[in-house]
This record gives sequence, C-alpha cells and structure tokens, in this order.
Amino acid sequence: MTRLTRTVRGGGCAAKLPPADLDRALCGLEIPVDDDLLVGLQHPDDAGVYRVTDSLAIVQTVDFFPPMVDDPFDFGRIAAANALSDIYAMGGTPRTAMNLVMFPSKGMDFSILRRVLEGGLSVLREAGVVLVGGHSIDDPELKYGLSVTGFIHPERILKKRSLSPGEVLILTKPLGTGIVTTAARGGLVSPDLMRVVVEGMATLNRNAAHVIRELPVGACTDVTGFGFLGHLAEMVVGSGSSVVISASAVPAYPGVEEWGAMGLLPAGLHSNRAFRGCMVDFDPAVPLPLQDLLFDPQTSGGLLFSLPGEQAGDALRLLHEAGVRTAAVVGMVASRDGERITVTL
Ligand code: CO
Ligand code: CO
Repeated sequence: MTRLTRTVRGGGCAAKLPPADLDRALCGLEIPVDDDLLVGLQHPDDAGVYRVTDSLAIVQTVDFFPPMVDDPFDFGRIAAANALSDIYAMGGTPRTAMNLVMFPSKGMDFSILRRVLEGGLSVLREAGVVLVGGHSIDDPELKYGLSVTGFIHPERILKKRSLSPGEVLILTKPLGTGIVTTAARGGLVSPDLMRVVVEGMATLNRNAAHVIRELPVGACTDVTGFGFLGHLAEMVVGSGSSVVISASAVPAYPGVEEWGAMGLLPAGLHSNRAFRGCMVDFDPAVPLPLQDLLFDPQTSGGLLFSLPGEQAGDALRLLHEAGVRTAAVVGMVASRDGERITVTL
C-alpha cells in the first residue's frame, strides 16, 4: 500500500508561506475597495465576507495541503473538515464547495484519488454542503482541499480581533496534531491513538459553531497552521488587550509532550515560535515541551473563542452536550493594555 505521507517531499507537514514574505508580496498592490466587502485583506480574518443584501452576506475561504496521514479516505475527510472550518470560525453556515486537486498522474494510482475525493464528499455530506465543481492539475505531489462558500447575516460576523477584558478563552479541540503526525512518520504512534487523532482532525467544527452562535461571544477564530499561540496572537494584536493562558489547562493529545521532548517537532513549529515568540512571556515553570506544544501547527484544529467569564460554565455545559467533550477554558483576557500573551503553568 502507498504510504501517502512518504510521498510528501521533505517529509514535513504543509508549511504556510512565512507571513513576512507574504506581506512583502502583497505590499503596495492596489486591492480594489468595495462598500459591500465587509471582511477583506485590509483586516484579514479567517474568511472573507461580502454583503449581498442587508440580511445576507457570503463567506469565502480556500485551503489545501499535501497528506499528513496515510489513508487516502481519512486525508480527504481531514482536508474537507479543515477547509470548512474557517466558515464556522466566522459564524457562517457553509453551503457550497469546489474541489482543488493536484495529482501525480504518472506516479500514483487513480484509485487513491478516488478515495481522497470520497473522503471529502463524506464530510461535505455531513455538513450539508453541496459540491458544485472543482479543478485538477497534474502535479508531482498529491494535494487536496476545497474552496468553500457559506452564508451569514452581515451583522452576525464573528471576528477574531474583538477581545474584551473580563472574558475567558475556550478552546474546543486538543492540541498536538503536528507533533503526532511527525511522530507517526517514525512509527512511534499506536494505531489506537492515531485513530483518535485522525477522528479529531476529521471532526467538523460545526457542533461547536452552533453552540457558539447562541452565546455572547466576543472574538472567535480556528487554530490551524500558526498553532495555538500564533492564532491567539492574531486575536491579541490590535485588540488593545492582553491575555493570560494556563498551559496545563490547554487540552492536548496524550504523548505529545514526550515526543516533543525527543525533538519530534514539525518545522512549522519552529517558524511559528520565531514569528510570534516575541509577544509571549512564559513563566519559567512552564516546561519547554509544553511551550513547544502551544506553537505546534494544527491541521483542522478547534475553535478558539472568548466570552464573558460568567458565561463560561454554561458554554462548557452546552459544548459538552453537543458532543464537543474536549472543550476547556484555557485562559482569560486581562484588563491591562500592552497586547502581550502571558503563559503560566
Ligand atoms: Co482560520
Ligand atoms: Co484560514
């Protein structure tokens, strides 16, 4: 059987372009302005939002990457759950999707592509999303993902940069998918744990999003390639607030700290730390492997959102009732200014 992760050049997980390089590429480009563009590149968020009428806007996002797991069906499911996630993170409802396929027609059997697409479709079906088309190119390395369009009310957009003092932060999925998939390449992960992590990545953020929509949420994003602290940093920058995180309260897959201590860290973790580490003050009591975990790039990670502290109990109860049993309060928004992240044990 083809081991999909062995076909990925460099053996690493899908690294995003470094943000500084992307900024350089975009800098000075004249991006057209439009009164109906409610969320665009001027204030980038999880997805773009464009107003159609006073009561309807469309939310648009796109994501694709090479395989991080060996089973093609699982890879398709994970890629689809990941692509839909940014719509949920904006408070939207995904409606239509288009496949993006890069496939090595000479190096791989087409039955593998079929399984990838079946996996993607199974998650779209679960989410109530219609596949309307797609595009494929012959490429030396398999990559799959989707562009997704959702609906949202123009006044009910959940942005990531709207933290307020007195709020707590809740994360809905465990961290560690980057470290686990790195350790799995070395054959160190038991099939049982791998199953748990694959199911975690293939789980839609839909149930969590449905709960969140009914709560007085301040800010919301999803945790993906920049890691927990990278995405938290995006929430903090420009918010005028600082946050305090309790590292031991952050949900994580079992074994990740041990593998981290062995140096089984994905390359993206180091670039995440290099990019945002300057915003973070670690209490020396937080062990290095736990610090690293907070920068681990996530595939199809959970939602990270803020809401008033007195609502935290209700939020957790509703999330647990909706099947989001891994959700936990991970920190709070402090009143002092400075836009810093403090991590205590
Ligand atoms: Co996002
Ligand atoms: Co995104």
